[in-house]
Amino acid sequence: MSRPRSTNNFLLFCVATAIAALLTYLLWHFSPNLNALLSERMGAHPDPNTIINVLKLILIGVVAYLLVRALNSLIFGLTFRLRSGFAAPTLVRNVFTIIAFTIFFLIAFNSYFPDVNLGALFTTSAIFGVIFGLALQDTLGNFFSGISLQADRPFQVGDVITVGVQRHTGVVEGITWRAIKIRTFTNHVVIINNSTAAKEPIEVGPRENLNARIVYFNTLYADSPAKTIHVVREAVREADNVSQRVTPIVRIRNLGDNGVEYEVKYWLDDYAKYNDTDALVRQRIWYAFRRAGLNFAFPTRTLHVERKPKPGVLEGDGGAIIERLAAVDIFAPLSADETGVLAQAAVSHVFAPGETVIRAGEPGSSMFVVHNGRVRVQINENGRPRTVATLNEGDFFGEMALFTGEPRTANVIAMEETEVLEIGHAAMKTVFDTNPDLVESLSFIMAERRQGLAAQTDPSSAPTESAGILSAIKRFFGLA
Ligand code: CMP
Repeated sequence: MSRPRSTNNFLLFCVATAIAALLTYLLWHFSPNLNALLSERMGAHPDPNTIINVLKLILIGVVAYLLVRALNSLIFGLTFRLRSGFAAPTLVRNVFTIIAFTIFFLIAFNSYFPDVNLGALFTTSAIFGVIFGLALQDTLGNFFSGISLQADRPFQVGDVITVGVQRHTGVVEGITWRAIKIRTFTNHVVIINNSTAAKEPIEVGPRENLNARIVYFNTLYADSPAKTIHVVREAVREADNVSQRVTPIVRIRNLGDNGVEYEVKYWLDDYAKYNDTDALVRQRIWYAFRRAGLNFAFPTRTLHVERKPKPGVLEGDGGAIIERLAAVDIFAPLSADETGVLAQAAVSHVFAPGETVIRAGEPGSSMFVVHNGRVRVQINENGRPRTVATLNEGDFFGEMALFTGEPRTANVIAMEETEVLEIGHAAMKTVFDTNPDLVESLSFIMAERRQGLAAQTDPSSAPTESAGILSAIKRFFGLA
């Protein structure tokens, strides 16, 4: 069974420390003997003391390195992680190691070779400086860029980033003093120099963040937007890795050449898996479309040959319209033929959720029957909208302006995608001519509605008694 890497490192560290300690002990203990031996073999030149001091310095260097490593693990591996919750960046740890080791080494060097002025050696050697500078130009560039990246902390290990114009995308695996290492979604490792990364734009998808994605799709123009939006939203919100915390947004982004173009925006629990999630979302949309009878648009040219409808014959949805009108209570007394005539005159309109069908105060010369969907009747009360009624399939509205010639008394707004059948003045007059009783039943309903309105607003000058309404309708339609 293989041991974890950290255990191996620790064992290696212990062995190296033990060997270094043993060698140090031996060198210090036997240095007089070694001195005598070297003097005997080599004479006074080179000085045996210098050789022994160099050996001691090397050993001190090794011990100092091991000590600094131990300190590093203690401070950054343990204390830092406990206090801030994550391990310190490699770059910070390396900088600490280099500085601490250099200090240890310089102290030791000074005590063994007090005559050598290291400071002067570094500062006075101009040639050394130039060579050093040129040779380390790139390295130092990376180093300082790395430091500024660490200081800014624009991203951390585990975040998804996209770097530069070449758009290298992947999960950050490490940030060292030289480069950023990312693992792409094809499991390749890309190393980007810190100095390059510092100059390039970087897009960051932080790990602990609700990052969003957008997937595009389109439908035929015949498919209802309200239905499409509902179906796709429900399909997407249940997909794996799509966050439950935010509801996906589905919206139309363009009315394109080949169809209605949509986008669905959703938020991910784990952004690093966005490729899989995008694919799953597209798959869910396909199945949802299939079940709901929606159609993807594709480049097509459709030739519509329009035939003039024969008079008296209802096209397409005609049967359903007749059925709908026959089920409206005020039209119940009409014969099948009369309902057919009314259906022939009815014009269908579709309204999106929230769209206004009728606006208060405007003139109106038609009434409406709710064919599919729902509407609300709204009045303004002290500048605020107030709903006085909700009308469902088979209910009618807009009769007050049509039958009295007065302006519309309220706003009527679609609550969901709603199809209404509009019936004009001429068609109603035909119906009234043959069914005078209809006027009476209508006047009752209108009186009831007027009373509902009057309870909300100031009693208007318009009559709320059905008798008054009845005579108003008769006058307006020129009925006997
Ligand atoms: P009209 O005045 O032409 O336009 C607004 C319509 O809202 C109105 O006709 C009625 O059909 C409808 N309406 C007004 N008040 C009520 C109510 N209290 N209950 C139901 N419908 C109403």
